Amino acid sequence: MPHRPYIVGNWKMNGTRAMLAEARAIARGAARYPDVDIALAPPFTLIGALRAEVSEIGVGGQDCHVAVKGAHTGDVSAAMLADIGADFVILGHSERRKDHGEGDALIRAKAEAALAAGLGVIVCVGETLEERDGGKAEAVVSGQVDGSIPLGDAAAEAVATGKVAVAYEPVWAIGTGRVAAVEDVVAMHAAVRARLVAAYGEAGEKVRILYGGSVNAGNAADLLAAEGVGGALVGGASLTADAFLPIVAAAG
Ligand code: G3P
Repeated sequence: MPHRPYIVGNWKMNGTRAMLAEARAIARGAARYPDVDIALAPPFTLIGALRAEVSEIGVGGQDCHVAVKGAHTGDVSAAMLADIGADFVILGHSERRKDHGEGDALIRAKAEAALAAGLGVIVCVGETLEERDGGKAEAVVSGQVDGSIPLGDAAAEAVATGKVAVAYEPVWAIGTGRVAAVEDVVAMHAAVRARLVAAYGEAGEKVRILYGGSVNAGNAADLLAAEGVGGALVGGASLTADAFLPIVAAAG
């Protein structure tokens, strides 16, 4: 099933208010690509300002808590993200899995909380270099999909309306300049798709599977043209309009 390409910039822990100028430039450029869904996930501190300044692109968070509110110092709930104008949230990024010890069950709970708050979700999966070298990439990623995608009635509805995406981000390709080979990306996306169809039935075909890991202007066209690739989750190359818009152009 052909999907509208989805190009998402994950700013990670980068960006002060000065960077809103880049977001504005990205939003202005987005007008040239009406057939591409474009979004940015800045740090929590910029979501409200970014939403207030740009309406042409999606705006999302990079994490949320499972609870709606309560005694969770330092955390932000999905309801709070929705309240400040976010459209979606990235969950289970490998940096959170590693730095914060997040496991599949927690990520699933967060995804279900996000859907309950009306947000879309991008659930991240990906193997380490050790796992790939050990021949376990497909098994690891399939297990992560099985364990961390949202389930239940709300998830079925969100899948049907295109609000659930999965990002395949091999850990060894993130921020390293070492992009995965196209044939490996195709194989891994097929493995992810199989698990989505196992979980959601035919509707699993509607879930966009994004590739992430050292995507840039030079490699985006090949990656985005690959079988089963529904878009890209971009880190470093999403921090400026000059770097990000050529990736959008490659999708459009
Ligand atoms: O979520 C995006 C990501 O982890 C990839 O980062 O800098 O390799 O594009 P980067």
